[in-house]
This record gives sequence, C-alpha cells and structure tokens, in this order.
Amino acid sequence: MPSTITNFETYFLGNSSKSIAAYQKAIATVQSLLIDFFDNQKQAYSGKTPEQLTAIFEAIDLDPIEGQKWERIAAEIKKILNNSVVVSHPTCIAHLHCPPLIPALAAEMVISATNQSMDSWDQSPAATILEQKLINWLCDLFGYQIQADGVFTSGGTQSNFMGLLLARDYYCQTQLNWSVQQQGLPQQARNFRILCSQISHFTVRQTAALLGLGEKAIVPLETDENYCLSAAVVEDKLRELKAQNLLPIAIVATAGTTDFGSIDPIASLANLAKKYGIWLHVDGAYGGALILSDRHRNKLAGIELADSIAVDFHKLFYQPISCGAFLLKDRNLFRLIELRADYLNPETNELEGIPDLVTKSVQTTRRFDALKLFLSLQSLGRKTFAEMIDSTIELAEKTAQLIAEEKALELANFPTINAVVFRYRPQYSVNKSDKINSQIRMLLIKRGQAVIAQTQICDRTYLKFTLLNPNTTISHIANLLAEIKSLGQTLENN
Ligand SMILES: Cc1ncc(COP(=O)(O)O)c(C=O)c1O
Repeated sequence: MPSTITNFETYFLGNSSKSIAAYQKAIATVQSLLIDFFDNQKQAYSGKTPEQLTAIFEAIDLDPIEGQKWERIAAEIKKILNNSVVVSHPTCIAHLHCPPLIPALAAEMVISATNQSMDSWDQSPAATILEQKLINWLCDLFGYQIQADGVFTSGGTQSNFMGLLLARDYYCQTQLNWSVQQQGLPQQARNFRILCSQISHFTVRQTAALLGLGEKAIVPLETDENYCLSAAVVEDKLRELKAQNLLPIAIVATAGTTDFGSIDPIASLANLAKKYGIWLHVDGAYGGALILSDRHRNKLAGIELADSIAVDFHKLFYQPISCGAFLLKDRNLFRLIELRADYLNPETNELEGIPDLVTKSVQTTRRFDALKLFLSLQSLGRKTFAEMIDSTIELAEKTAQLIAEEKALELANFPTINAVVFRYRPQYSVNKSDKINSQIRMLLIKRGQAVIAQTQICDRTYLKFTLLNPNTTISHIANLLAEIKSLGQTLENN
C-alpha cells in the first residue's frame, strides 16, 4: 500500500544523499543570487520609496499550499536583494552599519546549520567552551583581571541593559541590603539617578524605563565643545543630587557616541564613581573596537576600571548582525541575576563543572555568534583588524579636512573615531538650511548615489557620514561632497 506520509528528509540537513543534494541546491541558488547581486552593484540603494516597495511585495503569496521550486523562489529573493541597501558600497555610510567580513559569512552558515543553543552546555558543548574562551580573551584585551567574566549579547542595547540592571541590583544589595530579584524595587528606587551625557545612546534612557526607574532617573549632562562629558560637571551634579537627597547609582560613560564618535573621559569618571561608591558602565558599543588599535587604544584609557563594558562586534569589528558582548569586572556579581531551571542549568551542573552560560545572560535560547568573531580573527589576524580601524579613522580625518576647507560646508566635529557630522551652508537662504540639508539626503537616497544619515545639533539639521567601510576612499568622499554641494546650490536656487 503506498504510504501517504510525506518524506521530510529533503527539508533538513542530514546524512542522506537526498538531504545533502537539497541543501546544496538551496545554498547554490542563494549563493549565485548573492554573487550576481554584489558583482553588479552600482548604487548604494535602488532608490525605491516605501510606497514603491509596498507595491513590489503586494502580490507575494506568503503561504503557498504547496512548496515552490527554487527557480521561482529565486525571483522573490532577487526583489529583496535589489531593494536592499548595499552595505559594502563605498557611499553606504549612514549608520553604524558595517559591511560584514567574508569569514563571518561562512561562520553564519555553520552557526545556522549546526544550530547550537548557548543556554546550556548540553545544547552547545564545543560552542560553550569557545564562547567562554573568547570572553576570557576579551576581558584580558580590555585590561580586566582574572575575576572578570562576560557573555555574548545581541548588541549594545542588551549590553547596556545588563550593565544598568546589575548597577541597580548591586546598589540595592550593598547600600540597602535589598534583593531586587527577590523583593522587587525598594521604595528608595524612585530617587535613583543615573548620570550620563546628553548624547549618550537612547538605550540608556530606555533601560531606565525598563528597569522600573522611569526615564526621570536619567540625568543627562551637557557635553563640552568636543561632545564629551566633563568630570567636573559630573562631580558638581553628583554633589547637587546628594544635597537633594537623591541617590545616584551609576555613571554611564560613552566610548564612541553614535553621532560624533566622541569618547568620555573614562579614567576620570572611574575615579569619580569610586569616590562616590557608584557603578561605572562604559557603553563601548562603537568605540570599544579601538582596543585593537595600537594607534588609538589610548583613547579608551581607564576602561579597565569600569564595572561593566558594552562592546559590539556588528559595528567596528565588521560582523554580520547580531553580535556583541557584555563584560563584567567582577564575575561574582552575575549572581545578582542568577536563575536556575531544573531542565536547563540545575545547581548540580555547576558542582559537576558543567558550564551553562544561560546563568549569565538575560536571553535563554541564544545563537553561537561568537563563532563569527572567532573565524574572522582566525582568517584576518589581529593586525588586519587594527589596520582597518586605523585606515577608517584616517579617512574620517581627511574627510573632516576637506569639509573644513569648503566654504559651502560647515564641519560640526573633528572625528575621534570615524563619524563626521557637517551640513551644507546655504549662501542666501540661511533660514532654509534645515530643509535643504534634509532634501539633499533624501535626494541622494532616492537616486541611489549614497545612503547618508541626518542628525540634529541644537535643533538644527546636520548630515552625517559614518565611515566604517575600509574600502571607501577619499576620492569617493570628495565626489560625494561635490555632489552634496551641487545639490545644495540647486535646491537653494529653486
Ligand atoms: C553608542 C551606542 N550604544 C548602543 C547602541 C545600541 O546597539 P545595538 O543597536 O547593537 O543594540 C548603539 C547603536 O548604534 C550605539 O551607537
């Protein structure tokens, strides 16, 4: 009697020739589409508007009753590829959004195909050991001592969350003899305050809200002319808060602000944090990568004094999204958020020396993203990473120089890392400056010539280049600046 049961063999990668053939077909299709796409890329983006994209995907059948042939699926993939921003294009320079390294792309295939889950050792035996080794290497790289530890995260948002979560719980435990994990927030929590610069990442504010402290817990402080916090300003504020019977629990230093790449004075802030008995978290999501560069590492001086550090690999370490890490100076403090589940990480595992990384994470099921960083380091070597970082900083410096020399443009910052903020300076219609700068950006995107960002300084609109791509050259930038100037002049005359 013929079986009515479908054979699922060809849907999963396994040890049969049919399964392997199906896998090869899928991978070969996608690979040839990708090669074709990258080989023929001429523009940073197709220029399609949200309405046009909605129309393109209007007729897509999301759940066909029968599976489709790859040839047909390929047509849909092409539509997606053709309307994606080309992150490796030399003028796709809007955000902290990097072109991913080739070894990391290969790693992604291994990560997905083996599908290890980092929560418990029995779901990721080798991966658990390798992630821990990379964490130990990172702690050492940032100058932490042997008692430090950390965990891979989905990125800066999660790492900042973990830093402030531990800061809050540590304060409650040590100053108020209160376990937030057991008892929830203490009454005094309404007076908790977290100091940071007014240009720290919005996730600091978001975290305060998520931690039940409210956005009001954030005390945003003015920055100096280089967009950095001043330790003197922070200390004045600490005194003021104390005089008002408010309870400062943490300082957040940003090592690489999103718009300007500016780096707060970490060592002085660490001294202050120590003096006032509060936590210092360094948001090094962007600038943490400077630790690899002999030329620029000194900009992070004092980072080893921080209680916790956020560092992202999907920014200046050129990893595909997502990949980040949270590092903690004293590993014992992970106990503040430790939870046990019988099925996953029972205490008996610990007694038997079985490492379950879930105990250090706010995620349960978690990808083996550490493999991407591992294969990239293996394939490129540390020296090349440092050279890429150095070369993009040099490019940013030359870009700033070009802008400073051009009368039609106004430079907002001398780059500490590789972000350059500036604006077109209208000759006659000064009051239309914001509108003209916004229009310049949108025109570049719509024409597919460049994807650049826009930001605000003192409520005025500025343009931003985030020069992460080591293949962007100064002549790409010079051409783009000439185009920006010409667009500005045309808009002004219209
Ligand atoms: C300084 C800084 N911190 C944190 C984040 C958030 O990181 P993620 O997007 O990886 O969660 C960003 C994002 O750009 C950032 O620039």
